[in-house]
Amino acid sequence: MASRLAALGLVALIAACAPKRETPDAADIRAARQAALTFDHRMTSEIVGRLDRDEDPVAVYLAYADNVPGWGKELSDAAKMDFSRTALGARNPADAPDAWERQQMEQMSFMLDAGIDPETLEIAEIVTEGDAKVFRWMRPVLMREACLACHGEAIESRVKLLLGQEYPLDEATGYAAGQLGGAYSVRKALSIGGKPPPPYQPQPIPPRLPPDPRQPGDAPLVQPMPAPAPP
Ligand code: HEC
Repeated sequence: MASRLAALGLVALIAACAPKRETPDAADIRAARQAALTFDHRMTSEIVGRLDRDEDPVAVYLAYADNVPGWGKELSDAAKMDFSRTALGARNPADAPDAWERQQMEQMSFMLDAGIDPETLEIAEIVTEGDAKVFRWMRPVLMREACLACHGEAIESRVKLLLGQEYPLDEATGYAAGQLGGAYSVRKALSIGGKPPPPYQPQPIPPRLPPDPRQPGDAPLVQPMPAPAPP
């Protein structure tokens, strides 16, 4: 009994001495959620919906490659915080995670495997990076059936060619629906050296890898879809 009390006392002492975690600002969390929701909506209406309507996956791929990487920047500029997508195995090297993001996604993946509801896996923290205090937020992104046209096991050969040409280091294939495909990530500096951070600077569009140079006379990389049979 005495040792039990002593142990309880020790636990209370450790809890009292542990550095207090700062709670992130509710407005920052709301802004991060809003950015992720907007991305989700655009992804559904402008990309995934087109695949669901049986549009040519090559046309959808080209629309994706031209537009989606810029959405993160648009949302960042609107919210004045860095909004991005990342993955443990990224397709676009510009999306590779930093150490904090990698650790969160490893935990998310573990929790999902344990059957925990992905809706509950949002993370919001204030972390110290050098002499800066930074708000960080993350939410998992799960692969859906339509995502597999570009991230699954059996990717259509023309889409595979395009992916291989633009993303030779692609690590984002071979998924099944329901798996952790990556995460939305938000980062906002709160103070640097105890002083307010400089105002938000609009970010450049993440670089795209240049496609392989094609020579005149090379066979076209992507064959046009055969015309639909007349009714
Ligand atoms: C038409 C092809 C296509 C479809 C459909 C597609 N993706 Fe992607 N995905 C890409 C390309 C290309 C990139 C790399 C360019 C970029 O950064 O957006 C990418 C990047 C990503 C990234 C960022 C990390 C990385 O690997 O670079 C995540 C996360 C992601 N996709 C998840 C999804 C999810 C979830 C869906 C379904 C809702 C989906 N994708 C549907 C082509 C596609």
